[in-house]
Amino acid sequence: MKKLMEQMAEELSAAFEKAGYDPSYGKVTVSNRPDLCEYQCNGAMAGAKAYKKAPFMIADDVVAHLKDSHVFSMAEVVKPGFINLRVKEEFLADYLKKMEADEKLGVSEAEHPKTIIIDYGGPNVAKPLHVGHLRSAIIGESIKRIGRFVGHKVIGDVHLGDWGLQMGLIITELKCRKPDLVYFDDSYTGEYPREAPFTISELEEIYPCASGKSKTDEAYRSQALEATHLLQQGNRGYMALWNHIMQVSVTDLKRNYDNLNVSFDLWKKESDAQPYIPDMVAKMKEDGFAYEDQGALVVDVKEETDTKEIPPCMLLKSDGASLYTTTDLATIVERVKLFDPDEILYVVDKRQELHFIQVFRCARKTGLVKDDLEFKFLGFGTMNGKDGKPFKTRDGGVMRLENLIADINEEMFRKIVENRSVKDKDAEDTAKIVGLSAIKYGDLSNQATKDYIFDVDRFTSFEGNTGPYILYTIVRIKSILNRYMEEGGNLEEGEILPAVNESQKNLMLLLTGFGSTVENAFEETAPHKICAYIYEVSNAFNSFYHETRILSEENPEQKKSFIQLLCLTRKILETSIDLLGFSAPERM
Ligand code: ARG
Repeated sequence: MKKLMEQMAEELSAAFEKAGYDPSYGKVTVSNRPDLCEYQCNGAMAGAKAYKKAPFMIADDVVAHLKDSHVFSMAEVVKPGFINLRVKEEFLADYLKKMEADEKLGVSEAEHPKTIIIDYGGPNVAKPLHVGHLRSAIIGESIKRIGRFVGHKVIGDVHLGDWGLQMGLIITELKCRKPDLVYFDDSYTGEYPREAPFTISELEEIYPCASGKSKTDEAYRSQALEATHLLQQGNRGYMALWNHIMQVSVTDLKRNYDNLNVSFDLWKKESDAQPYIPDMVAKMKEDGFAYEDQGALVVDVKEETDTKEIPPCMLLKSDGASLYTTTDLATIVERVKLFDPDEILYVVDKRQELHFIQVFRCARKTGLVKDDLEFKFLGFGTMNGKDGKPFKTRDGGVMRLENLIADINEEMFRKIVENRSVKDKDAEDTAKIVGLSAIKYGDLSNQATKDYIFDVDRFTSFEGNTGPYILYTIVRIKSILNRYMEEGGNLEEGEILPAVNESQKNLMLLLTGFGSTVENAFEETAPHKICAYIYEVSNAFNSFYHETRILSEENPEQKKSFIQLLCLTRKILETSIDLLGFSAPERM
């Protein structure tokens, strides 16, 4: 579907041409004087030099050709030469009718659909999910949904961290505590037990304990490094333990992501890349890219244009163990082999940027990927508390995701009950739905690369630029539609008629922007643009609602027209929040 802006520009370009000027001057922008006009064209200003003519004379010539325009109700020259524009009400109503009929509500699907892998979530096995992983999950999920909506084949991969030192630490600590476990008996050749020798809560206690010890106890740390290495070499007992750890952790992770309405197509992990490492490394050596430096194997990735030093990419440590870089490179090899992607997008904390610069350069330089494969890194900022420091619990500990969600839901529940008398069970379910919107919108409404302050009071407010406010607006529309149906109205009847007042027209004009907003949000990997858009639409709807009698409108066709406009507004808002990864309740 052609965008409204494009159609306006076409009209303008044709008028420029008819008046004897270059049609490329016919660009249209949103007005910066909304009190005077809705859109404007500054082409006459731009053309003045080329035609050696006063801008307003050019503008006059152009406007003469817009007299019978079916798009504009007003095209007016203001000095020194701007063309102020207003859209014709009939044209606008017709445009919205076309949007209604379009399955994608005016979003154009990609002409050349790409296969895109999004690497997000990135939790580490056996460590509890903390708020740092929250952003990756929320942003990645939204980009995945937006990408699919615009027609790409998007594959979401959680890329579990399961191959690093944390595994060696857990194994070492288990060995300290229960040295008699059969997993530590090298001479054992029988089957290992099915049941894990720990629960998730034990596992979550073991890791921080081991990590703490390794920081003060050198011998302990070497043991953990050794255990990590043995695991990577495929030690039988350690592999069996690793399987238990995976089993217990993944079950817990899936439950957590379910609560967040986040899902992955692939539950791949760092260890899946292990089989690709030997060949990959051998080839990098053979091709002369990898060389030994102080015992370690490295590839140079610095470039002449670098303004800061980019250190070599380390492939293997001196003891032969692989690193975070190694698994990331080998994961690329695997992804190319299994999915032949056109693009891989990593949604990871921006503090890991250097790591990804090294990985991308190394992959390109050593020919792991085809030339036109695009690597993208969306590095997000830190989620801070009100004190401006990384978000913590009240007593200063690391905030667990589960607890954060519980806190928000509790606050939401309190507000909902305070607001009205809904039955308790109902209020609890509603609090969960609205609570999720508070968390997700609070995060997504900020530009991803920036740090932001997680402010429970603000995020859970029903007023202002918040998730609950957007949901409140949707619920308001739903309740009007329900009342309409209770009175015998049929949502399938009627059509959108030209706007009857300014607030209605403003809402209608905003709705036309859905297509370009979503396309733009995808191109710029910027879900916050959808947030900004639906905030504007919600405000416009609420003004319209306050200024217009909808259900008490006496003219039946006019009333039906309002109802159709409500249906379209609801559809656009609901589609938008679905792209952001949350939904609206029936009541609030
Ligand atoms: N597990 C990592 C962490 O917690 C994030 C993984 C990001 N993805 C990747 N391919 N390296 O820091």
